[in-house]
Amino acid sequence: MDNTEPTRVRPQTWSDFFGQPSLVKSLKIAIDAAKTRSEPVEHILLYGPPGLGKTTLANIVAKEMGVNIKITSGPALTRAGDLASILTGLDENDVLFIDEIHRLNKVVEEALYPAMEDRAIDIILGKGPGAKNMRLDLAPFTLIGATTQAGRISAPLRDRFGLVHRLDLYEAEDLSQIVLNAAKKLQFEIDTVSATEIAKRSRGTARIALKLLRRVRDFTLVEHNSVSSLLATKKSLDFYNVDEEGLDESDRRLLSAIITHYNGGPVGLETLASLISESVETITEVYEPFLLQSGFLAKTPKGRITTDKAHTHLKLVK
Ligand SMILES: Nc1ncnc2c1ncn2[C@@H]1O[C@H](COP(=O)(O)OP(=O)(O)OP(=O)(O)O)[C@@H](O)[C@H]1O
Ligand SMILES: [Mg+2]
Repeated sequence: MDNTEPTRVRPQTWSDFFGQPSLVKSLKIAIDAAKTRSEPVEHILLYGPPGLGKTTLANIVAKEMGVNIKITSGPALTRAGDLASILTGLDENDVLFIDEIHRLNKVVEEALYPAMEDRAIDIILGKGPGAKNMRLDLAPFTLIGATTQAGRISAPLRDRFGLVHRLDLYEAEDLSQIVLNAAKKLQFEIDTVSATEIAKRSRGTARIALKLLRRVRDFTLVEHNSVSSLLATKKSLDFYNVDEEGLDESDRRLLSAIITHYNGGPVGLETLASLISESVETITEVYEPFLLQSGFLAKTPKGRITTDKAHTHLKLVK
């Protein structure tokens, strides 16, 4: 069994999953209703920035339903045959999780439509004029798709999901719960103020909160004899270059680039991407959600601008 730390702290049940209340409620209703009817849960599309719990939720849904989960990803399914062999291998009501579903190619995506709608898949036997089309019936199943780029999902695919849900960045209180719960599992005694401090500096993201928790635990072990305190936590977070607002080096680099090179903007996405040598997707999926939500960056029709809050925080003037 995989017993690495990230696996050990991954929630298996609802009691370990904090935050996202409306999404959790909607999934619980769908699961209860499906169980009552002895049917699979409807197909679910989960979208939102990385590290907020999409994969985790897919696993919890399968566990709650008492079924197996088969995990694959958009880029891994290159031919319709790859999809067919996975689908025909599923047991009744199983969950098929397709990560990065926006990266499915057209042929596979189109093969998925009848599977989602009619529980059938068309396969072509043979080649050329003698080729025959054969329709295979499938066991009832639930497709859970995950993506960080909802905008790149085609309308026909999106419409075939019964439940479409966005994951939001977490509030500090939820992240603090996540940190305390994970610390317990890691047998690291952390005080509540330290957990809150980690939560505040985690860019609203569960994965970052857990990563910082592990860094703080190491730092506290080596530098403070494993005695957790707010001071030890602050020192370790500073040591790992995460500032009081939760910005890391990349965030600060992005903001300072706009301020120093473009007087605070507006600057177009493409220009910004080449300025800091990142892809447009990384900026929009990874950096921007938090910077926009926390008011360091704003969008205008002409491009991105930095806010007064960013200038004050970075001690830079336009
Ligand atoms: N609500 C939550 N409560 C507790 N832990 C969580 C929660 N959401 C996520 N986590 C933890 O955060 C980490 C990242 O979650 P997960 O891998 O599910 O994110 P994701 O949305 O699938 O990310 P990606 O888009 O990068 O695939 C995991 O270790 C998971 O255990
Ligand atoms: Mg994932």
